[in-house]
Amino acid sequence: MSFTIVEQAPARLNRSELAVPGSRPELFDKAASGGADVVFLDLEDAVAPDDKPQARKNVIEAINDIDWGSKTLSVRINGLDTHYMYRDIVDVIEQTGDRLDLIMIPKVGTAADVYAVDMLVTQCEDAKGRTKRIGFEMIIETALGMANVDEIAGASKRNESLHFGVADYAASTKARTTVIGGPNPLYGVLTDIDGDKPRDYHWGDMWHYAIARMVVAARANGLRPIDGPFGDFKDPDGFRAQANRASVLGCEGKWAIHPSQIDIANEVNSPSEAEVDKAKRILEAMDKAQKEGQGAVSLDGRLIDIASIKQAEVMVRKAEQIAGAA
Ligand code: COA
Ligand code: MG
Repeated sequence: MSFTIVEQAPARLNRSELAVPGSRPELFDKAASGGADVVFLDLEDAVAPDDKPQARKNVIEAINDIDWGSKTLSVRINGLDTHYMYRDIVDVIEQTGDRLDLIMIPKVGTAADVYAVDMLVTQCEDAKGRTKRIGFEMIIETALGMANVDEIAGASKRNESLHFGVADYAASTKARTTVIGGPNPLYGVLTDIDGDKPRDYHWGDMWHYAIARMVVAARANGLRPIDGPFGDFKDPDGFRAQANRASVLGCEGKWAIHPSQIDIANEVNSPSEAEVDKAKRILEAMDKAQKEGQGAVSLDGRLIDIASIKQAEVMVRKAEQIAGAA
C-alpha cells in the first residue's frame, strides 16, 4: 500500500440518481416519493433560458416544502460560463434551510472551476451561519473536463462524486453517437477472414475509455463514479445493459431520466443476496481467525486476502444502508 491514504467521501447510497427539470414542479412529489437514492433538481439544460428564474423559485420552494425523506437532495446549477450560475448558488443557499445535500456542477473543465464554486458556496454558507457543508457532484462531460479529470476530482474537500455526462461529452469530442448513452453500430470489430466461413461483427462499447478513465480519477480521490443518462426510456433492456457495463467497470450508480429507470438502476447497483452472504461469511472467518490467533484467514479451503476482507466490509455496510433505505 502507498503511504498516501485516500480519504473516502461520505458513504451515501447513489445507485440511482433521478433528473427532474426545475421547470416541471408537477414532477417533484413523484420524485420525492419514488425509489431514487438521489434526486437532482435541474436548473441547467432541461430548463429553457426564459424559464430559468421561475425554475429557480420552484426549486427553492421544493427544497423547503417537500418531504424528501431519507433521499439525498441535489440541485444542478447552470454552467460557470453563464450569468445564471451565481444567482443559482446565492438564491438557493440563502433562501433554503439545511435540507439540501449536494450541488451538481455541470461541464466542469478545470480544478479552478470547482475552486470558484467552492468559494462562492462557502461565502453563502458562512453568511447564513450554515453548519452543514454542501457537497459537490461534478459532471465530466467535455474534452477539457476529461483532460483535467484528476485535478478536478481532487479540487475540493466538498467533492463527493464524478458523473459521466455522455451527451455533452459526445458533442464536445465530436464523437458520433445515436441514442444518448447507447452504443453506435459503427463502433465494432469484424473477425478475420477464415476461408469461406461467415465473419462475425461484434459491437463494442464506445464509452469504455471515458467511463474507465473517470472511474480511476474518482476512486483515486475517494469519490463515487456515477454513469450518466440513457435517453431511450422505452428501452429497459438497453438501459440495463448500459448500467451493467458501467457497474462492472466500477461505477456505483446511474442516472435515471424517467421513473421507469430507477428500479433497474437500483437493482444493477445493489449487491446480490449471494454476494452479501459470502461477504458476511468472510468477515466471520476473519473474526474467528483473529480470536484463534491465526495470521492467515481461510474460507472453504481458500486463502482470503486483505483486499477481499476490505471489499466484504464495504459490501456488508452497503447492504445495511440499502436495508435502511427500503
Ligand atoms: N421525475 C419525476 N417524475 C417523472 C419524471 C421525472 N424525471 N419523468 C416522468 N415523470 C412522471 C410523469 O409525470 C408521469 O407521472 P404520472 O403517471 O403521475 O402522470 C409518469 O412519470 C410517467 O411519465 P411519462 O408520461 O412517461 O413521461 P413524460 O412524457 O411526462 O416525460 C420526459 C418524459 C423525458 C420529458 C421526462 O421524463 C423528463 O423530463 N425527464 C428528465 C429529463 C432531464 O432532466 N434531462 C436532463 C438530464 S439528462
Ligand atoms: Mg450535460
